[in-house]
Amino acid sequence: MDLTSRYLGFNLRNPLVASASPLNLDLGNLRALEDHGAAAVVLPSIFQEQIEREEEDRERMLGAGAESFPEALGYFPPSAEYRSGTEHYLATISAARRAVDIPVIASLNGASEAGWIDYARLLQQAGASAIELNVFFLASDLTRSATQVEDAYVAILRAVRAAVTVPIAVKLSPFFTAPGHLLRRLEAAGADGFVLFNRFYQPDVDLASLRLHYEVPLSAKAEIRVPLRWIGILAGKLRASLAASTGVETAEEVVKYLLVGADVVMTTSALLRHGPAHMRVLLDGLRAWLDARGVGPAEIRGRMSEARVRDPAAFERANYIRILQGWQG
Ligand SMILES: Cc1cc2nc3c(=O)[nH]c(=O)nc-3n(C[C@H](O)[C@H](O)[C@H](O)COP(=O)(O)O)c2cc1C
Repeated sequence: MDLTSRYLGFNLRNPLVASASPLNLDLGNLRALEDHGAAAVVLPSIFQEQIEREEEDRERMLGAGAESFPEALGYFPPSAEYRSGTEHYLATISAARRAVDIPVIASLNGASEAGWIDYARLLQQAGASAIELNVFFLASDLTRSATQVEDAYVAILRAVRAAVTVPIAVKLSPFFTAPGHLLRRLEAAGADGFVLFNRFYQPDVDLASLRLHYEVPLSAKAEIRVPLRWIGILAGKLRASLAASTGVETAEEVVKYLLVGADVVMTTSALLRHGPAHMRVLLDGLRAWLDARGVGPAEIRGRMSEARVRDPAAFERANYIRILQGWQG
């Protein structure tokens, strides 16, 4: 069965991608993911804050040293030995590219358009097959309009686009007033794909300590519905690729995402829960589902998107009214 799928211009052997998480920093895990069928991997993010902090530290150290005693430079290890987080990340990309044959996507995570974006060029030089640009900041500034917030996303993408030639996927949150319009703007600014959606830590209140409680619980299957709806609405309306992210625990979620029109389907929580070998479980399950119906991914992809489904209203408001009014306890 031919499972090949296109994503960001790559011909992938199937539609399953291991999304960003610390699991993918380890070369052994990357090899295991490839052996178990992953068609591409996304490295965990390098953050704007990390890049900027290291740049500031370096400038401060060199500046302070140079002013007081020139020989102070000798106190620091030569740059080749100095393994900062950003340098380590670049080394990981190169090592990952040598370790596996599937595309290795680097993840750049930031919140504003500034000098740190030059680092994207280094990601490409280190061998990143593509860049996943994860932009997120809370629109908590009450003086900033939705358009101003969206402008910031577009500006960041434009700056990264100007820095690299490899494909760029933008990973976004679902919290936009008009997601489709924003995606069209981002596509026009050079996005080759979208990862829908990012999943965030949300603070909780710990009633025992009366402090905020921080954790990132792993996702559950029921969480596929927000991305499922939006991919269904967007499928066939953009040139950019669509990657589904959130809630993929079994092959059933993979099939559902393909049916509404995802080009590829990503998974993190299930891999963290069950290990890299779970990729094989998803792949075998997908193949079994398709085999049983004698179809390939290309034949099911988008068959249940809003544009092609018999009841497009199911994606929209009409269905919501029907469900609320039809509820019986
Ligand atoms: C422990 C953990 C670490 C993550 N690290 C990153 C990251 O560095 N960059 C990123 O874009 N997403 C990160 N994510 C988000 C995942 O890539 C993914 O989008 C999200 O977990 C939803 O997919 P899932 O339901 O399959 O877990 C992380 C998620 C988890 C659980």
